[in-house]
Amino acid sequence: MVQQSGTGVALTGCGSAIPAQVLSNHDLSQVVDTSDEWIADRTGIRQRRLADPTTSLSQLAVTAAQSAITMAGIQPIDIDLIILATSSPDDLFGTAAKVQAELGATRAAAFDLTAACSGFVFGLVNAAQFIRTGAYETVLLIGADMLSRWVDWDDRRTCVLFGDGAGAVVLQANEPDRLLGFELRSDGSLNRSLTLSAQPQPKVLTADVIAAQGSYQPIVMDGREVYRFAVQRVPEVIEKALHRAGYSIGQVDWLLLHQANQRILDAIAQRLKIPTEKVISNLANYGNTSAASIPLALDEAVRQGKIRPGDTIAASGFGAGLSWGATLFQWGR
Ligand code: COA
Repeated sequence: MVQQSGTGVALTGCGSAIPAQVLSNHDLSQVVDTSDEWIADRTGIRQRRLADPTTSLSQLAVTAAQSAITMAGIQPIDIDLIILATSSPDDLFGTAAKVQAELGATRAAAFDLTAACSGFVFGLVNAAQFIRTGAYETVLLIGADMLSRWVDWDDRRTCVLFGDGAGAVVLQANEPDRLLGFELRSDGSLNRSLTLSAQPQPKVLTADVIAAQGSYQPIVMDGREVYRFAVQRVPEVIEKALHRAGYSIGQVDWLLLHQANQRILDAIAQRLKIPTEKVISNLANYGNTSAASIPLALDEAVRQGKIRPGDTIAASGFGAGLSWGATLFQWGR
């Protein structure tokens, strides 16, 4: 750890991990009343990966993190802070510390960050602040989710959308600063449109005191409202992040959106007048992996040689909260 000020930030490594089990749209049509045609037409999703009961979120997070650490050319001991963006931790008290121990990142503080499908973007901005103040030099950011644990497998309106996965990036102090601009937003008045909420049951303790206990209700979503929200609000934050950076749309090499739905990706790109070939999309294979989707798509594109060092990326996450945010950054040092 160095104590200096005015430090810039660079993303120097990425990695990802997916569970082995594949559930195709055809497989899903044996679970609920749906079809490959309906799902592919409305969402672009063809299959998703699902964790089996023996696979933990921390296992996926560690695997993704290890490959990001290798790409960055650092050691786990170099990491000052680990942020695990997730809405499906192994443990509600937090899973980041378990990841820290499994990685052997013994110097690192670690915490979970919950911002649903915006978690990676919120985490990226969060991580950057610790570096910019000079407090930390190296931060590991992981986005990991297993929403298969929390969907209602009888609800065809939601269970077809989600998949499990993890992605990670290493952020390091760097000159010049590669994080060019950002904008984060929340609107809790729309909270009801996408929830995974506690469902407490009364537990009578004494004649005067009743506690509340229970589990979580599976995911409930108003699909149309979420669709409208994403298509309207995401272009605004991308434009804001660009404005802050002094960049124009034409200078964006890649649009890297939360991989929720191909129709949402297409509509946002169209509104921003960004051509299809600049839009990163891998949701056909993974569905919506929540906080994992952006780093998973980033990792694939980097390893395919599509995204190259110096490329300018507009990344935006959006989802439950409701929350949404965008960052503009250049890949690599
Ligand atoms: N298979 C077959 N039919 C289905 C279905 C499925 N998996 N899910 C819903 N339907 C049916 C509905 O029951 C409805 O039938 P009805 O007209 O007989 O009542 C019909 O399809 C239309 O449903 P609707 O919910 O209006 O569809 P839609 O065009 O809005 O598409 C989504 C549904 C979920 C694909 C779309 O709203 C969407 O993409 N929303 C955003 C969701 C999202 O990305 N959330 C996560 C953000 S982080």
